[in-house]
Amino acid sequence: MNETPISSHAAPLHVLIKSWGCQMNVYDSGRMGDVLAEMGYRATEEADQADLVILNTCHIREKASEKLFSELGRLHETQQQRAARGQRMVLAVAGCVAQAQGAEILARAPYVNMVFGPQTYHRLPAMLARVEAGERSVLDNDFPPESKFDSLPHEGAPPGPAAFLSIQEGCDRFCTFCVVPYTRGAESSRPALAVLDEARRLIARGASEITLLGQHVNAWRGAAPDGGCWGLGRLLRAMAELPGLQRLRYTSPHPLAVDDELIKAHGDLGVLMPFLHLPVQSGSDSILKAMNRNHAAADYLRIVERLRAARSDLVLSSDFIVGFPGESEADFQATLDLVREVGYGQAYSFKYSSRPGTPAADMPGQLPEQVKEERLARLQELLWAQQKDFNLRCMGQMMPVLFDRPGRQAGQVLGRSPWMQSVHVEGTNDLIGQIRPVRITQAGLVSIGGDLESHDMKAEALC
Ligand code: 5AD
Ligand code: SF4
Repeated sequence: MNETPISSHAAPLHVLIKSWGCQMNVYDSGRMGDVLAEMGYRATEEADQADLVILNTCHIREKASEKLFSELGRLHETQQQRAARGQRMVLAVAGCVAQAQGAEILARAPYVNMVFGPQTYHRLPAMLARVEAGERSVLDNDFPPESKFDSLPHEGAPPGPAAFLSIQEGCDRFCTFCVVPYTRGAESSRPALAVLDEARRLIARGASEITLLGQHVNAWRGAAPDGGCWGLGRLLRAMAELPGLQRLRYTSPHPLAVDDELIKAHGDLGVLMPFLHLPVQSGSDSILKAMNRNHAAADYLRIVERLRAARSDLVLSSDFIVGFPGESEADFQATLDLVREVGYGQAYSFKYSSRPGTPAADMPGQLPEQVKEERLARLQELLWAQQKDFNLRCMGQMMPVLFDRPGRQAGQVLGRSPWMQSVHVEGTNDLIGQIRPVRITQAGLVSIGGDLESHDMKAEALC
């Protein structure tokens, strides 16, 4: 092992954090960056320049560990090249693969210095100190009694115009295909005041839009400022009152926990965007039962109907799994029927992937890859047609766009519509951070484009 110190103050230390998977991982990576920034680390995109590399992994679908070990193999070479130059590279694996396979990672890749799960990254300074003190490898995938949020820094890198805010973690629903209850642990919610404080700080540092995050976000139940206990609908109401917040979203809810208060929030709060990702997974009642989703397709349709009654311009997105064990052609057709009935603006669809340790992995009726692929192709054809159709319906409409990133082509700037479409316009980067009206003149499958309107737009047009 190379013993070059990692906290020499001669030159600034650099960290590369690579994030795979969900928005929660993106959020966690940002917070790890904040912890490290307090220790003097600067961000780099180049592994060759990095004194510390953190791979923030995702375990939700297959190939997670193969992907991790091939990335580790590449980084090991860079680590050795740096060592030959007398420079240290501390290699760390974080996130859900680290949680699920911590000891295995250290056994297969002994050059990895630190492995830690999603609940312990606030201990990064202590873990780094142990590595620096000469420990060969540090493994910390506890579910600690203290909340990481209590010891994370309050100020960090600027959040950008559209920020994420984690309010809930873990899941107690135990859908039979899903690793989240094992890798992220039991449901826990941050108190309302902690959420509102973090939101205020994000707004003060430039965020116009906040997306509240949770693995089972509408399981959020928080200690309220009035001494009571709030649900998500009430929290959204309090968020909507924050001065300077222009857009609010949340993801991802479970249909069964969509309660009256949440539905009413969609009707009452203008700041809550008219777009909801509401995973259903399947349209077949028997598959929903085998998945332990605890509702029928008709229950989902009723919730969608009630949400749309509350907010007529609401556009929906969802997650679907095809080829779950025992799924017949008739079950799959029921999924296609549900998609036709709801009509989605966008959606994510996946082939069922057997996850070790989950009940579905041992169910009879595991389907051949070819059947899964063929069903996925048919489902995606329908979903993409609906997405394209929705984008085409936006042609000629004027809509407010929050610009949040430069375009790939020079002279182009990208933003998000209220319905989460990626919108491109010709313009300069000084648009970034602004919400401006755009008249839509182009519609493709993955994005729409338009022209900036100069006058103020008071009302949001409905596509
Ligand atoms: N196989 C395929 N897709 C899965 N998802 C979760 N677990 C699996 C699995 N084992 C999908 C679900 C979930 C999304 C985040 O990932 O659709 O909503
Ligand atoms: Fe996984 Fe979502 Fe089911 Fe929880 S509700 S077990 S996170 S799919």
